[in-house]
Amino acid sequence: MKHTTVICFANNKGGSGKSTTCSNVGAALAKSGKKVLMLDGDMQLNLSLSFLDEDKVLEYAKSSNNLYQAIKEQKDLKDYIVSTPYENVDLIPSSTLMSSIEYELFTKWQREFILRKLLKTVRESGTYDYILMDAPPTLGGWVLNLLCASDYLVIPVEASPWGLFGLANMFEFLQTTQEMAPGLSLLGIVITKVDERKNYFKQTKESLEALEDIHVFSSLIHVDSTVEWAQDNSKPVINYKPGSRSAKEYTALAEEIKTILQEA
Ligand SMILES: Nc1ncnc2c1ncn2[C@@H]1O[C@H](COP(=O)(O)OP(=O)(O)O)[C@@H](O)[C@H]1O
Ligand SMILES: [Mg+2]
Repeated sequence: MKHTTVICFANNKGGSGKSTTCSNVGAALAKSGKKVLMLDGDMQLNLSLSFLDEDKVLEYAKSSNNLYQAIKEQKDLKDYIVSTPYENVDLIPSSTLMSSIEYELFTKWQREFILRKLLKTVRESGTYDYILMDAPPTLGGWVLNLLCASDYLVIPVEASPWGLFGLANMFEFLQTTQEMAPGLSLLGIVITKVDERKNYFKQTKESLEALEDIHVFSSLIHVDSTVEWAQDNSKPVINYKPGSRSAKEYTALAEEIKTILQEA
């Protein structure tokens, strides 16, 4: 039986590389022989689109077999898992209706812990080494659910002038969540979309490394158009072009995560 580690990729800033990092770390972990469940917590369906083609994703989004329906009806998530074309990767697909998930949560008893409760069977079944969750760029009741169901948070931060903006809100939100879910820790910050020709990359890195008691992953994720070509083909870059720079970087990040967790 496997011990299952749940990691959420979140940052209230949109475009910081959450979905791309989450999907490719998942694909890299799977390639290294780990069994991974990807949970798409965003109405933009980007995590689902990383593994399945658009028709399939829209089919799930319109059906009753998606995360939104499970939360709405408080159904065990074990019955919402679908397979992907990739070995060791399963998925819980999302729906555009996730836009109204806050409304659904509002009336429910112990609403912060609904996802944790619905994920319990899957987690305790020992089927997966990792459950990776992609969050929307908000800090509300739904992201609170994602974090309360997680062991670890990874914050992707874009190496851009606005990349750090709002990070203080994210830390504050994490602290509040930890009061409800003491088992949750920050695994680290990953710097994404790095362009070393630009000065603000250095600034971002220095500012993040100056934060006390916060791990900044040494694996950097550079801007690479192969990532976008892979997304255009509904594939993780790990599988689309295994020899590419970005495939190697996401693989290195996944290895770094595994190493930290074994030490943790
Ligand atoms: N390493 C990368 N190289 C090039 N483009 C990237 C990279 N990572 C993310 N992107 C692009 O940046 C945009 C935002 O990334 P995404 O993962 O969707 O962020 P988020 O989920 O935080 O909104 C997307 O268009 C994506 O294709
Ligand atoms: Mg996203």
